Amino acid sequence: MNHFLDIHKTDPAALRSIISSAAAMKSARAGRSRGAPDDDQPLAGQMVALIFEKPSTRTRVSFDVGVRQMGGQTMLLSGQEMQLGHGETIADTARVLSRYVDLIMIRTFDESVLIEMAEYADVPVINGLTDRTHPCQIMADILTYEEHRGPIKGKKVVWSGDGNNVCASFVHAAGQFGFDMVFTGPAQLDPEPEFVAAARRAGVQIDIERDPHKAVDGADLVVTDTWVSMHDSQSTKERRHNMLRPYQVNEALMAAARPDALFMHCLPAHREEEATSAVMDGPHSVVFDEAENRLHAQKAIMRWCLGL
Ligand code: CP
Ligand code: NVA
Repeated sequence: MNHFLDIHKTDPAALRSIISSAAAMKSARAGRSRGAPDDDQPLAGQMVALIFEKPSTRTRVSFDVGVRQMGGQTMLLSGQEMQLGHGETIADTARVLSRYVDLIMIRTFDESVLIEMAEYADVPVINGLTDRTHPCQIMADILTYEEHRGPIKGKKVVWSGDGNNVCASFVHAAGQFGFDMVFTGPAQLDPEPEFVAAARRAGVQIDIERDPHKAVDGADLVVTDTWVSMHDSQSTKERRHNMLRPYQVNEALMAAARPDALFMHCLPAHREEEATSAVMDGPHSVVFDEAENRLHAQKAIMRWCLGL
């Protein structure tokens, strides 16, 4: 049994095998309708709990559809409607759920909830986003990059904007998959130094460059995300927008990257804020492939977690 808690906590060989398995499962069902079962039904007889303490469209639907395609069943749970949201401990919740289900995916606020869930659950736990990281998203992004451009190893990825949870998992992936990264954004929103230091120790280059146009020079991939995440207080919105406006990904910024650079955004996007529609819908953008690949990457993650 394996938990999938974070990219830097997962062995690089396992990460690589998850990407290969996702690509193989995706091509095996090419041309089928979304609801059609896979030929392989590794999750037959398995029940998966999907717990959300924050809103979600992609994570919720892609996990649910993925389990069903593999022959399993899902149970969608909102944190607020569970006793978890009314004082029952995470440890007790984990022990109880482990008597009913075979796998738990949780989207929560504080990372400590995820960690405690994994510590007390007898079944695998998957991180569906915390305030600190979003590993499933970046597994889908690696799959997407490699489908379009081949191996990501040695490439230059530029993150423009807030050094948030999605950025953190990109930094983890840099160390594990062997690509270089440049963060460009305001100093107040830098990625966590601990994560940056760990990726550097793994042998990749992680630079901080305050000028976005200099940062994207030679970039193979430009990535951004919302300026106000679900865990950020709405009272910080105006201040964040003012700090982040120079880091908007627009056509002028993309023109400074390599001509074949890809553009990614995990979605949901706030068009004309962190990225313009011209970029989101333009020739560099693979944002909807990323969204689709959540499905394939997470199916491979679930199989790996269950050893199936
Ligand atoms: N990218 C992502 O995780 O989207 P949702 O918040 O819609 O799940
Ligand atoms: N950084 C965003 C990602 C949403 C998928 C958030 O945490 O709200």
